[in-house]
Amino acid sequence: MKPQLVLGIETSCDETGIGLVETGRGLLAHRVFSQIDMHAAYGGVVPELASRDHVRRIVPLIRETMLAAGRELSELDAIGYTTGPGLAGALLVGASVAESLALALDVPAIPIHHLEGHLLSPMLSSEPPTFPFVALLVSGGHTQLMRVGGVGDYALLGESVDDAAGEAFDKTAKLLGLPYPGGPILSKLAGQGEAGKFKLPRPMKNSGDLMFSFSGLKTAVLTATQKADFTPERIPDLAAEFQEAVVDVLCAKARAALAQTGLSQLVVAGGVGANSRLRERLRREIGKRGGKVFFPELEYCSDNGAMIAFACAMRIEAGKAAAATGGAFAVRPR
Ligand code: KG4
Ligand code: ZN
Repeated sequence: MKPQLVLGIETSCDETGIGLVETGRGLLAHRVFSQIDMHAAYGGVVPELASRDHVRRIVPLIRETMLAAGRELSELDAIGYTTGPGLAGALLVGASVAESLALALDVPAIPIHHLEGHLLSPMLSSEPPTFPFVALLVSGGHTQLMRVGGVGDYALLGESVDDAAGEAFDKTAKLLGLPYPGGPILSKLAGQGEAGKFKLPRPMKNSGDLMFSFSGLKTAVLTATQKADFTPERIPDLAAEFQEAVVDVLCAKARAALAQTGLSQLVVAGGVGANSRLRERLRREIGKRGGKVFFPELEYCSDNGAMIAFACAMRIEAGKAAAATGGAFAVRPR
């Protein structure tokens, strides 16, 4: 197959991401515009504002990305776009731009699952993992362990029964009065505190399966802040204990997933994969047992278009890229 030039479009939430990948060569360029500052005033993502901002940013970002790579739109062989999960209105912006551009250029528009983008993003690094591996997907919407046998070969091993790990970080940050986006800010505060000064539970750590539960942890944090001896100066210690509790559970389950599948490579993906304590503990604990952990580069941890272009290119190479049919496009918010 001649090298395929693939554009990737990501608009599932509050980042407009565009990536350009060429099969056989890898990522040529990518651009992300984050709406974080805009939503910060509201304490969270406002879906209607997110959609409108994607409309504003998407075409200039596509132009910038093509320019950075020195390539023309007319050279594109395919366009991949995030079809879900995410905010319906935001997804529709990316889907409609992808589908119309594809129609104009007479190339296929290929719907890509957002989580597949995250899942394969560690393969964008200079030392990529090889199939098969176990993936720990930890984002704002998902906490999942998967066995990845190859492109499109994903078996769910376990997931959260309630809040996702990133969601737990965000909700806990909010109840501690921290500004949006809570997760990274909470984790930064945790670095200034000491775990163990508070005692929080490790939900489902010893459940004997690969399921997770994080909503009780947030409630336990709330309870701790309502005690008479709680003062705002103790927030860093509470944040550190919260982070340690989440990391404890994620590490234990990741190790159990490797043991259960008999695999030695663990790939971590999604926004929480940027957490430095999680990175440090997984590296140490899995390394000690002869395994290896792969993280996406920090710029590919949060939402971006590079991972969507890359997943689309991998699907094309594997002969598993199904174009949307009939000119009608569907987004799948959930
Ligand atoms: O993958 P992502 O960018 O978007 C989703 O698809 O959800 O993940 C965002 C999530 C948010 O919940 C955010 O708080 C969390 O990742 N996050 C972190 C850190 N950086 C981002 N959580 C803990 N520690 C971090 N350093
Ligand atoms: Zn994501």
